[in-house]
Amino acid sequence: MSQTSPVSKRPDLPAVHPGMGGRGVLQRFADVLPVTDATPDITLGEGDTPLVRSVRLEKETGCQALYFKLESCNPSGSFKDRGMVVAVAKAVERGDRAVLCASTGNTSASAAAYASRCGLEAYVIVPHGRVAEGKLAQAVAHGAHIIAIEGGFDDALRLAREVTARHPIALVNSVNPHRIEGQKTAAFEIVDALDDAPDMLCLPVGNAGNITAYWRGFVECYQRESAKKKPLMWGFQAAGAAPIVSGEPVPDPQTVATAIRIGNPASWQRAIEARDESGGDIQSVTDEQILNAYRRLAQEEGIFCEPASAAGVAGLLQQAASVDLAGKTVVCVITGTGLKDPERALAEFAFELNPVPPELATVEREMGLA
Ligand code: F0G
Repeated sequence: MSQTSPVSKRPDLPAVHPGMGGRGVLQRFADVLPVTDATPDITLGEGDTPLVRSVRLEKETGCQALYFKLESCNPSGSFKDRGMVVAVAKAVERGDRAVLCASTGNTSASAAAYASRCGLEAYVIVPHGRVAEGKLAQAVAHGAHIIAIEGGFDDALRLAREVTARHPIALVNSVNPHRIEGQKTAAFEIVDALDDAPDMLCLPVGNAGNITAYWRGFVECYQRESAKKKPLMWGFQAAGAAPIVSGEPVPDPQTVATAIRIGNPASWQRAIEARDESGGDIQSVTDEQILNAYRRLAQEEGIFCEPASAAGVAGLLQQAASVDLAGKTVVCVITGTGLKDPERALAEFAFELNPVPPELATVEREMGLA
């Protein structure tokens, strides 16, 4: 793994390792982002996330190397921070006083974090009863104004667009081009770590901003000749929320993976372009497949992600059944941490606590040692 990013060569920056010294996405990637002298240099330490090799699933898929890009290690626990730092910095640069987003949870947590750091008001519109508690807790803790609507994410995004068309508030969903710009930096990091693009990139698809951003990042790496190839983009939607797969909006999307419970993705067309230009695929995976991958990542790879993130891995396992992956390098994006939704984990692993007396003999018996 090289020590400096191939796309971050600003001589005016301190000469430190990209991952040290508090340099976030805006500094490390200033030359490929819409950063000007007037852009505030904000960071919560986003980006530079680990690319960890699989210890078990790799063999099963038959690929040469399988890696997980742990975007769950970002400061607010999801990939959203890469784009949010750019969107919020540009909002500050423009003189905006407030940001607004619609969210299934992670975008709101990230927006609330960066807004609080910059002294902006954050407003978030969320589908009532469909957001994991940890994500809501983050937005609450950062002091965001939370508007819970009786509707889904698609209604929330429509309303967010309408409000920001009428009021001077920055819309920080991925329809904001600065979000996509920031998120493409994950592709640069993967190319930097592997010294080339992987053969396939697997990721969950919800509102389709992330697949758009990764594709842009890989195309730019190829154009700059830091990568010799571009990956096939393999995106995966939950079967009950798979409009891109079916070709029509889903009016009432359903899935355990609440982060991608979206029936009419904003970046639908760009996701199709990423799929087709890369020669990739967008498929659906069932909730059962998602939860199976969620369990296996936790118990066989040591990776605790949220169900939506497991959809990308479920998709890879599905593809491996029909596509020969021999000789291929594959990266699965782990988009968010499982800590945001402890209820899901406790339900999934049939966990029950039966308190026992604090005695050695009892503890040994409980451990199966006596
Ligand atoms: N994984 C996680 C953990 C997410 O939170 C999201 C989207 C996705 C995958 C899908 O990414 O929308 O760019 O295709 N979450 C948004 C939110 C919708 O509001 O937090 P996408």
